[in-house]
Amino acid sequence: MRVLFVCLGNICRSPTAEGVLRHKLREAGLAAQVQVASAGTGDWHVGNAPDKRSQAAALLRGYDLSAQRAQQVSRADFADYDLILAMDHSNLRNLKALQPAQGRAELDLFLRRYASSVDEVPDPYYDAEQGFEQVLDLIEHACDLLVIEVKGRL
Ligand code: 4NP
Repeated sequence: MRVLFVCLGNICRSPTAEGVLRHKLREAGLAAQVQVASAGTGDWHVGNAPDKRSQAAALLRGYDLSAQRAQQVSRADFADYDLILAMDHSNLRNLKALQPAQGRAELDLFLRRYASSVDEVPDPYYDAEQGFEQVLDLIEHACDLLVIEVKGRL
């Protein structure tokens, strides 16, 4: 199974989701069964490491994002991934516009699929530190439910 997380810049939300899910899969002994990646709809940060604030907040909870590098989502990703998960409605709209008529990937809003009190992971880029904590809270909860789904599928 292959999962791609998508946000706008691929330096805050989706790299965090990639790191959290990879960690939780490893803990569950499922790392070999699921490939995880992330990408941005925009190309401004391609090749860059995740935002320092995202890295710092994640590391405090045990997730090391330092090896990740930003990339832009492409039409080919719809053939390569089983599940493409958008962080907000704007990301989802942009992905729908890119989606080929016949793609393998199922496309969904991350928090709509993995029940949450809100359906978007808010963009923390222009926020204070607190925004990055909220991003982690939402992502950790949804990733727990994603891991349960993966266990059910296997
Ligand atoms: P992300 O956050 O989509 O969670 O990676 C952002 C990062 C950069 C920008 C916007 C959002 N930006 O405008 O450069």
